[in-house]
Amino acid sequence: MCGIIGYIGKNEATALLISGLENLEYRGYDSAGIAVISDSQLIIKKAKGKLKNLRNRIDQSPIKSKIGIGHTRWATHGAPSVINSHPHTNQDGTIAVVHNGIIENHEELKTFLKEKGYIFKTETDTEVIPNLIDMYYSGDLMEAFKKACSKLEGSYAIGVISSLEPDKILAVKKDSPLVIGISSDGNYISSDMNAILSKTEDFYILNDNEFVALSEKKVIITDYSNNLINKDIFKANYSIQGTQKNGFEDFMLKEIFEQPDALKDTIQKCINSNLDITLESINFSDKIKKIFIVACGTAYHAGLVGKKAIETLAKIPCEVCLASEFRYGDPLLNEQTAVLVVSQSGETADTLAALRMSKKLGNTVYAITNVVGSSISQEADFVFYTDAGPEMSVASTKAYTAQLIAFYLFAINLAEQNNITTKIEINALKKELLNVPELIKKTLKLNKRIEEIARLIYDKKDIYFLGRGLDYITSLEASLKLKELSYIHSDAYASGELKHGPIALIEEGTVVISICTNHEINSKLISNVEEVSARGAHTIGFTSCLSNTDVFDTLVELPKASPLLAPLFSIIPFQLLAYHVCKLKGFDVDKPRNLAKSVTVE
Ligand code: M6R
Repeated sequence: MCGIIGYIGKNEATALLISGLENLEYRGYDSAGIAVISDSQLIIKKAKGKLKNLRNRIDQSPIKSKIGIGHTRWATHGAPSVINSHPHTNQDGTIAVVHNGIIENHEELKTFLKEKGYIFKTETDTEVIPNLIDMYYSGDLMEAFKKACSKLEGSYAIGVISSLEPDKILAVKKDSPLVIGISSDGNYISSDMNAILSKTEDFYILNDNEFVALSEKKVIITDYSNNLINKDIFKANYSIQGTQKNGFEDFMLKEIFEQPDALKDTIQKCINSNLDITLESINFSDKIKKIFIVACGTAYHAGLVGKKAIETLAKIPCEVCLASEFRYGDPLLNEQTAVLVVSQSGETADTLAALRMSKKLGNTVYAITNVVGSSISQEADFVFYTDAGPEMSVASTKAYTAQLIAFYLFAINLAEQNNITTKIEINALKKELLNVPELIKKTLKLNKRIEEIARLIYDKKDIYFLGRGLDYITSLEASLKLKELSYIHSDAYASGELKHGPIALIEEGTVVISICTNHEINSKLISNVEEVSARGAHTIGFTSCLSNTDVFDTLVELPKASPLLAPLFSIIPFQLLAYHVCKLKGFDVDKPRNLAKSVTVE
């Protein structure tokens, strides 16, 4: 969480910092701030709330400068307020710091610094950093910065400028993302590549504990022992188009509608016209007897579908774990297990920690991620890129369906290697996969109908989702989407569980949404719908199985697909539903309250 930007070069820094922060705002939007050096003075501007407040402040009194750092905050320590927003400074205001991450030993460091006479103005963990740099400073900012960082425990990406040495930006990363952008007009630090894609496509990807000194023309990277580190330039694989709304009102709507094209790229990359699948860079040992799939949030739901695909097609048992539980849960890893992490951003703190732990315990780690150059992509043994393009909206949509595609391809690939499923079945599935973009286009035509359903439910207090098998997993994802965008309480239940407790929640008018894409279990689901209907629920059915549908008060017909692939289509109406409910309630679609796109702290 939190976004960091920095620029040093020929151009006006303030405008570049603000435009960079605009692109990073999805990482946090509690407050924002910049620090620039103008006429040898360090000047700080901050504002609470969304970035527009900071932009207004700066527009009222513009500052001329060629160097600066900026930050958009997702509060961890201390309430969202002007005082707690970054950049933070030492006491005499000569050193400014922006930080993303958590300094776990900040209390101890604060006590230590207070004993030395330092006074703290904020409730943040970050404020120890400029004060430590101040304490160690004796004429060499980088030396003081390295000494300060050697005392920090936790995760951090840090940018520093100082009026004491006004011709440089210093930066480092440890367990938090930070990239260096290089251009003929100057150099940048940024939490991600997207934020500065309009300025450069050339980057240095930093490893942990690599220190950077940026000047207008030079980028010097060293380690703690001052050894020089040479890096190859990394070319970004995204186009600037992907980071813009391109005529859509919101990123989320654009990303929902991008799904046919986004998935087409991923599918065609792997299945050729002879129906051969190539998953370059994935090498799966036949010694592996069990796969742990590890992820958070929406990526975890993709993992649940992935388990079903791998177990059905390749007959390899899978266990799907929330990364935050896996990392502390003593999972039974051994030489016959492999770990597959899933993360859109490739930076999620718990997923990254799970990856590192698994590697430490000797397991091969596979990764499905969307971001080339992300920490997870760099540290996994084998990476499958989803190629969905930048996902800017906090709510994940196209990344989810692209992760599903990755799982289907992975499962088919394993099944072919192990000669498990018949060629006829596999080929039928491949053909269906090639047709997925068209079927998604068809599903997107439900948009108007979904808007009507949104009007039916947007003022409700609770909404329940029911499904069985893969439809239960779609229910989980549908419920998550609705929660995060509409702030309506919602839960998803495997419909067979209803009678074991949840049915007690049903009363006159309660909205129950049921999903059914598998005709073999349709009748079971219909019985459960009858039960809630008998207790006064308003029942809405999303189904491709059109028998016994009279039981629903409202019905939405889904396109037909084989049950294994149905999650690719059945989720689309619920992405749209969450979107329309959010719009009807007048909330910010792309930046739901309390959330941030990339959860880089525990
Ligand atoms: O970048 P990741 O895929 O690792 O992110 C995982 C979750 O934080 C993410 O899917 C989150 O649940 C989304 N806000 C859901 O829409």
